[in-house]
Amino acid sequence: MKNSKVSIAVVGSGYVGLVAAACFAEIGHHVTCVDNDEGKIATLRDGGVPIHEEYLPQLLDKHRGERIEFTSDLGSAARQAQLIFIAVGTPQGKTGSADLSYVDAVASEIARSIQDYTVIVEKSTVPVYTNEWIRRVIARNGVSPELFDVASNPEFLREGTAVADFLHADRIVVGADSDRARELMRQVYEPLTSGSYYRVAGAVPGPHHESAPVPLLETSTKAAELIKHASNAFLAMKISFINVVSNICEAVGADVEHVAQGMGTDKRIGPRFLNAGIGYGGSCFPKDVAACRYVAEQIGVDFNLLAEVEKINAEQKVRFFQKVRSALWTFRGKRIAALGLAFKGGTDDIRESPALDIIQHLLHEGCTISVYDPAAMERTADIIPASDNMHYVDDPYEAAKDADALLILTDWEEFRHLDLEKMRKAMRYPIVVDGRNMYEPSKMAEHGYTYLSVGREGTYQPRELLADRKIP
Ligand code: UGA
Repeated sequence: MKNSKVSIAVVGSGYVGLVAAACFAEIGHHVTCVDNDEGKIATLRDGGVPIHEEYLPQLLDKHRGERIEFTSDLGSAARQAQLIFIAVGTPQGKTGSADLSYVDAVASEIARSIQDYTVIVEKSTVPVYTNEWIRRVIARNGVSPELFDVASNPEFLREGTAVADFLHADRIVVGADSDRARELMRQVYEPLTSGSYYRVAGAVPGPHHESAPVPLLETSTKAAELIKHASNAFLAMKISFINVVSNICEAVGADVEHVAQGMGTDKRIGPRFLNAGIGYGGSCFPKDVAACRYVAEQIGVDFNLLAEVEKINAEQKVRFFQKVRSALWTFRGKRIAALGLAFKGGTDDIRESPALDIIQHLLHEGCTISVYDPAAMERTADIIPASDNMHYVDDPYEAAKDADALLILTDWEEFRHLDLEKMRKAMRYPIVVDGRNMYEPSKMAEHGYTYLSVGREGTYQPRELLADRKIP
């Protein structure tokens, strides 16, 4: 791999920061990963990996102590770095705006440490104009304008596939307003944009290769900031759109999977993010749609479309809950098996997880829940402790034991391959309400289930009195 090594500091070791740091090391740079959580830094130094992410443990093991170091001392990391990536949290504030206080605090501290020319790069998802604020904060702290530039380099990685998304990105967006900053950023990503990384033995596999490297898009800092917000808002809109279409499908007796396939094969629309379900969750879409709406509001642009996207998303969970009610009639004392807690498959993240909302609602209604998730049970138990009504179990069949109904709430791959006979025998009543459309209704009917999913007609077993007359 042809490489001009760059000295990088990444501030914030959450999903974005830690993955970016590991990937920068993987493509040959020297990286210092900074976090003010001493416990996290100690874990990372000792070989621990605080998040569940494919390839991340391997990359950290490979580069720890050589190309990647961990510290809580931002000042010294900043002094040694040519580029400082800010990847701290930008949580949702009360008004829907992004809370930028962590970015502000980090920028001030960086300003106190700059000695030589440094590029400060926003990697956190931030609203347009944040780069201007960072620039102002650094200048206010007495740093001369020739000593620094601020760039925007948004990240498009998805949790669960973050490392592969980073190293095999659809595109790399760099927003910079000076040639000097642009040049350094080109150097950072050169192994991916030239394709040299993909010929290295042991390179993380993915769609790109030496002759088809990652495209680099250079823009202004403001455009880069907008690209990130607009992309997330657009994807959330795509999901809400198909969710409304799924509701129409249910009303008219069409199958949303067919509709999505028909729409998605139009290249202008594309098949991805057209999966109807129980609504989007996670630490990004809910927060970024709200922040994008807020930015538009502040500058007097009507973007009410996004308010609708949020409303549809909230309603989708309510509709699912009603579907469960339509299968069970009453809730008090019912035993529910729940498969999935994470906001999507492949991650242990439960932030804004629709699964959790639904479970909390069912507990509130007096149900007893037996839940299984391959990765997110420990985190959930901190919020919903195990109790007489909330059981965390070791596999889907234990969850299904004596259940009045089983709910599929997260699209974990392993939930697609359940032993349907074994599960039916474990359950009290063979009723499955699937919020992720993981099974073919006809297959579930063959296996003796009453099966309700999203945007498709339910299949009812004859002994369910609902066979001929659906009761609202
Ligand atoms: C999202 C974006 O996809 C990334 O590009 C972006 O970098 C990231 O946010 C971020 O801003 O940091 P992520 O939150 O990891 O990534 O999750 P997604 O895979 O986008 O899923 C978000 C939610 O939408 C999940 O709850 C998922 O189940 C749901 N979803 C997704 C659907 O309901 N239907 C779909 O077709 C796709």
